[in-house]
Amino acid sequence: MEKKKFYVTTPIYYPSDKLHIGHTYCTVATDTLARYHRLTGDDVMFLTGTDEHGQKIEEKAKEAGITPQEFVDRIVDGPRGVRDLWKLMNISNDRFIRTTDDYHVQSIQYIFRKMYDNGDIYKGTYKGKYCTPCESFWTESQLKDGCCPDCGRPVKDAEEEAYFFRLSKYADRIRDLLENTDFLQPRSRVHEMVRNFIDPGLEDLCVSRTSFSWGVPVDFDPGHVVYVWVDALSNYITALGYGNDRYDDYDKGWWPGINIVGKEIVRFHSIIWPAMLMSLGEPVPKKCFGHGWLLLDGGKMSKSKGNVVDPYILAEQFGVDALRFFLMRTFPFGSDGNFSNELLIQTINTDLANDLGNLVSRTTAMVGKYFGGQLPGGCRSWEAPEEYDRDLTAMASGLRDAYEAQMEVFAPHKALEEVFKVIQRANKYIDENAPWTLAKDMEANGPRLAHVLYNLLESTRICGILLTPFMPESMEKLFVQIGAPADCQTWDSAAVWGRLPETAAVTKGENLFPRIDMDKALEELEALEAAAKKAALPAIEIEPQLEEQVDFDTFCKSDFRAVKVKACEAVKKSAKLLKFTLDDGTGMDRQILSGVHAWYEPEELVGKTLIAIVNLPPRKMMGLESNGMLISAVHTAQGEEKLNLIMVDDAIPAGAKLC
Ligand code: MSP
Repeated sequence: MEKKKFYVTTPIYYPSDKLHIGHTYCTVATDTLARYHRLTGDDVMFLTGTDEHGQKIEEKAKEAGITPQEFVDRIVDGPRGVRDLWKLMNISNDRFIRTTDDYHVQSIQYIFRKMYDNGDIYKGTYKGKYCTPCESFWTESQLKDGCCPDCGRPVKDAEEEAYFFRLSKYADRIRDLLENTDFLQPRSRVHEMVRNFIDPGLEDLCVSRTSFSWGVPVDFDPGHVVYVWVDALSNYITALGYGNDRYDDYDKGWWPGINIVGKEIVRFHSIIWPAMLMSLGEPVPKKCFGHGWLLLDGGKMSKSKGNVVDPYILAEQFGVDALRFFLMRTFPFGSDGNFSNELLIQTINTDLANDLGNLVSRTTAMVGKYFGGQLPGGCRSWEAPEEYDRDLTAMASGLRDAYEAQMEVFAPHKALEEVFKVIQRANKYIDENAPWTLAKDMEANGPRLAHVLYNLLESTRICGILLTPFMPESMEKLFVQIGAPADCQTWDSAAVWGRLPETAAVTKGENLFPRIDMDKALEELEALEAAAKKAALPAIEIEPQLEEQVDFDTFCKSDFRAVKVKACEAVKKSAKLLKFTLDDGTGMDRQILSGVHAWYEPEELVGKTLIAIVNLPPRKMMGLESNGMLISAVHTAQGEEKLNLIMVDDAIPAGAKLC
């Protein structure tokens, strides 16, 4: 029988921001879903990638003094970049698309032209409000308190010649898609979309820009670049080969696929994207699932808010699987959830260390201790099962179906809840049977003890299979510990009680999920975060050199002299100023005030030979006169401003002129 094809995508990420735990959430969720479908036997294509065009990126590259291409290359492929993060998080994508890939650019030009040729794109003038960070156009009525409804930042008036997409033409079909099919999930998102965008009337969408150039040029009108969302949304089909000759998978049953996206971009995925596909005469996605946000202190995580939680640090500190598990276990997938490090540690300790970890380590240790790591043949059956035997085996045997029902409706948190019911039941079963008591008389109780331990291994095996999409690496280790061969790790075998060989070789290996000391871990985390922040700053920043030239005569008007510090003291009531009494070679003391107290104590400067400009007009500071200025060198290191007074050889006499 041909395998069912399952095509699932994450949104493609903007490479302008450092990816945080919120982004990781979306990709881990999609990866879990992809792994789940592979486990069930589907033929899976999982796509992720990066969304690399647009004004924001052009601006950031300019700020960084590099080309936009260099800028995106660095963030996508550089150390600790996007690809590195997905590798670290064990993301099993089959394809990675970059919107700067040649084949994608080729497809975008094809798509734009096709929509133009069929009359859905026309030229007009755009007048409206534009949010640069979000790269979104808004109408006046969509603004929230005059600002961008997505990010709350100010928008600016924009007016330019532009191409428009006849989105309005598709309003009825989009309404029908939203209201009368189960395309958009969860259902609550349908009401949001209809109320906020369809009911007020869909307006045509501006789909080209002329005010910047970092984008896909419209090939028949090269001053225009394609609107970044038209470019980005199309990735889901260009990555399959639509409109290009790089891939040849579009007609092979992958499309339509499933788009998993965060709630703020549901509008693009459930209105604009299906309308584009309708215009192209292509099928709309099977589903769009709009998940909630991970919030920090009640607000959305973002780099600009300065509260980014670094997934690298969290994964390195707690383990990739523990982090993956936490994200899927804690937050109902369609709703927002509050992220905190405390909650992460608590979840690891409760579910992984206490419940799952204990079950595995106690069971494998007991098989080792009482049976030398191998249960005797015949231990699977027991003539007169106890009530708790029946309870455990029934729960574990029915687990796969209960889990499947939840996974199929994008409720990974509920699927995990089902698994943990069995894990908790199994732990209780240990206490009910008190194996340590049975072991006191092995002759009489040995067979019963072996049966109890078999039931525990078998329950663990079934849970292990179903936890694999969430924690692939740890479950591999778990299977080694309980001695489950490959054919006992399959989806089919998860529904059949008793598949584990009775005499499987059991080994108590490393503790899969060690308990975490909350206070210590939080302290370490803080230190790691501070160190990472510091390391992320450029080692040294120097001020850009002035471009304006100064003519020689003007330069010569500045009188720089060597001066010797005769006395130096802090100026009262000033945190910054030091008062210098200087020998400038004239025989008269010169007084200069300088704001260098943050870097020098007065006594360490006495006797030093410094450089001053002496022909500046006198200036009063804190009621004291300053006659000139001491010359210093400034730069920024690790985010802190540093200053060094220029000190010269003491052999240089006071008053010597610099020229
Ligand atoms: N480039 C667009 C998507 C284009 S898709 C054709 C984009 N990129 S993004 O990098 O800003 O966001 C990528 C995904 O991360 C989105 O689904 C977004 O919702 C998700 N998240 C970003 N912050 C998040 C949280 N704090 N919590 C959960 N998901 C979040 O949008």
